[in-house]
Amino acid sequence: MISRWTVVVARDDLTKTEVLHDELPALTDGEALLRVDRVGLTANNVTYGVIADVIGYWRFFPTTAEGRGVIPVWGFADVVESTVDGLPAGTRVYGYLPMASHLVVRPKLTSSGFVDVSEHRADLPAVYNSYLVTTSDPAYDPRLEDLQVLYRPLFLTSFLLADRLADNGFYGARTVVISSASSKTAFGTAQCLHNQGVRLVGLTSPRNVEFTKSLGLYDSVLPYDAAVDVEPAVYLDFSGSADLRATLHDRLGSELVKDISIGLTHQAASADPRSEFFFAPEQLRKRTADWGSDGLAQRFGEAWRGFTARAGDWVGVVGHSGPDELIEVWQAVLQGKTNPNTADVITF
Ligand SMILES: NC(=O)c1ccc[n+]([C@@H]2O[C@H](COP(=O)([O-])OP(=O)(O)OC[C@H]3O[C@@H](n4cnc5c(N)ncnc54)[C@H](OP(=O)(O)O)[C@@H]3O)[C@@H](O)[C@H]2O)c1
Repeated sequence: MISRWTVVVARDDLTKTEVLHDELPALTDGEALLRVDRVGLTANNVTYGVIADVIGYWRFFPTTAEGRGVIPVWGFADVVESTVDGLPAGTRVYGYLPMASHLVVRPKLTSSGFVDVSEHRADLPAVYNSYLVTTSDPAYDPRLEDLQVLYRPLFLTSFLLADRLADNGFYGARTVVISSASSKTAFGTAQCLHNQGVRLVGLTSPRNVEFTKSLGLYDSVLPYDAAVDVEPAVYLDFSGSADLRATLHDRLGSELVKDISIGLTHQAASADPRSEFFFAPEQLRKRTADWGSDGLAQRFGEAWRGFTARAGDWVGVVGHSGPDELIEVWQAVLQGKTNPNTADVITF
């Protein structure tokens, strides 16, 4: 029997956390056991919790604890036991993981790793069910594991979002206004849009203006209450703030040619018919058809390498370990107490 710990949160109050302990039963045929090793934690994981009921995020890693849920994180894990030919113990994988020491998966092998075909995950978005074996991943670099767990799930969205704008001629806009400009997904997008002939305006909290300017990615950085110049603009919303959206629409009027929602760092879902939700898998599908999988991988790889070459200078990594420190980081990220010039990686 293997002992497992799991950090759960109350589904209706993400500040309430608890560490549960249980014993894992022996694997059944077709299963493998992963030992979670290293994960990143950012506002994106908080968003998983905020919209978990809508998107089904609680269903990836079910818990029997009444009213509780497990927040998903991205990271590395090692196969420690396996009944699956071709996936021996010792294999290191990257993918979607629970806030827990272990995860039992039912792998169906692919050319790059495996898909977890466990029944409870069958109707959940496929992108979260795929695990990459590090030795089959051309982008893997053991020296960059921290950057990978923090940025890779975010930067794919940044890359596809920037590509979507370029693909559509920026909808005729000359300016791209980006909220929560200090967030990693936002500044990854700014990095992809840099030098593409549009002016990038970053909006952020007053306390994060200096950091956001220091990135050197935005043409101008303004606090949330400053007035944005009126000219044809696209709005990329990472904050989810209904007030900010209303202010921008009032000020820019018809000059606001496109309003795209990507995130909700302010933790309140504010659906608005004036804004369309960015669904990354749609642009992924389009570009796979346009460029082929290899062409897409090559373009993404180039952008990713350009990004990771600089990301270490922008944001320092702070390491933590174990469930108690994981909970401390969760509370800090949830309450917006983290500083954008540091990012948190937790080893389990
Ligand atoms: N749709 C998609 O496919 C997709 C993919 C990736 C990420 N996202 C979303 O993009 C957003 C950014 O994620 P990230 O992981 O890049 O974030 P991050 O780097 O952890 O962002 C930190 C920033 O978010 C704002 N923030 C964080 N906590 C806050 C709080 N409690 N109250 C108010 N503001 C807070 C602050 O920015 P400011 O001061 O600049 O506002 C802070 O500097 C998330 O909502 C995430 O879910 C969406």
